[in-house]
Amino acid sequence: MGLSPFRQEGPTGKPSATSLSKPTRRRSSLKNRSVLFGLMAALFLLVVGCSKDGMSTWEAFGPVAQKQLDLFNVLLWTMVAVFVIVEGVLLYAIVRYRRRPGDEKPPQIHGNTSLEVVLTIIPTILVLGLGIWSVFTLFEIDEAPTTGPDALHVNVTGHQWWFEFEYPDAGNGKHIITANELRIPVDRPITITLESDDVIHSFWVPKLAGKLDMVPTHINTMWFQADSDKIDDDLPITLDGQCAELCGLAHALMRFRVTVMEQAQFDSWAADYGPPPTNTDRAKKGQQVFTTNGGCTLCHTIDGPDDPLASKSRLDPFLDGENPGPVPAPNLTDLRTRQTLAAGILDLSETSLRDWIHNPENVKPGNYMSERAALYQNGTANLNDEEIDALVGYLLDLR
Ligand code: CUA
Repeated sequence: MGLSPFRQEGPTGKPSATSLSKPTRRRSSLKNRSVLFGLMAALFLLVVGCSKDGMSTWEAFGPVAQKQLDLFNVLLWTMVAVFVIVEGVLLYAIVRYRRRPGDEKPPQIHGNTSLEVVLTIIPTILVLGLGIWSVFTLFEIDEAPTTGPDALHVNVTGHQWWFEFEYPDAGNGKHIITANELRIPVDRPITITLESDDVIHSFWVPKLAGKLDMVPTHINTMWFQADSDKIDDDLPITLDGQCAELCGLAHALMRFRVTVMEQAQFDSWAADYGPPPTNTDRAKKGQQVFTTNGGCTLCHTIDGPDDPLASKSRLDPFLDGENPGPVPAPNLTDLRTRQTLAAGILDLSETSLRDWIHNPENVKPGNYMSERAALYQNGTANLNDEEIDALVGYLLDLR
């Protein structure tokens, strides 16, 4: 009797009228409320997760993201179907075959060969099918198309904590190095090489392609394209991207933007790429602050692509941990044409640029500018208001 899986019910085992008194009812209403709360929380997460803004992967603007989204949908809905069927059968069995008063002990069985074969074959087919679909998709999106318009190539380098974009040839042989804002022409494949100067970062623009790691001493490649027929808004449009690999203190503030533009707009940006004009008094004064008083040129280039030797002279002491010393820093040549500041965290304006120069630590804790540059003492720039104003003017005038 002690080994029986069935609870023996004596006359005292049955619920009496008094056991359905208040505490039980209170417990069940508490349970109902918990279930309701749980459902509402799940619904909230579902609705929030389905938003197509910002970093959502539910909206694809190009062929790579679209194929990845299609694969995700196949995997997701197949798994949802399996879950619903399995849980449905389980619930049906629990309810339909529950023990009722007076039931006899059911017949005891062991094994059912045909059932076991069926329950092995179905999951095997499912897993193999989804696996094959995944592998084929990986091969399909691996290489940029060789027919159609020429690909535009960009080298992307990850730094703590910003992105460097280099166009070896942005058109007519123009060599461009910029930071944190990638401009791409619409309807044209963009081929990308990814690497890092310090630690592992990850490059991710959800609406264009899945994430890929940026690894020191190793080059990864990817490609994507923005299709005009998938974008409803007028060009140019700006897409959000961010570093997707924990890379140190300011990882969460390591963002970037991708601006999709018409080829003509892209060409005009590329043609205008060059040092800021100095045809106002403020800009002339600012140029002097930038090159002399501030010592900004030790780390920042402002008159075109960085010289590889200069980049090396910044990187070596940085990797050695020399303090203070130059560090790899964003190229500022086209700053006046950008929308954001400090790796995509602030909208670029005179005010935000002034705040950033004055005290970068307030904006982006952990940044190397306020830690390494001799200009900064106790986190604050050793410049008077007039000098900061001139510097802002130099960087932004005539934009
Ligand atoms: Cu770079 Cu996270």
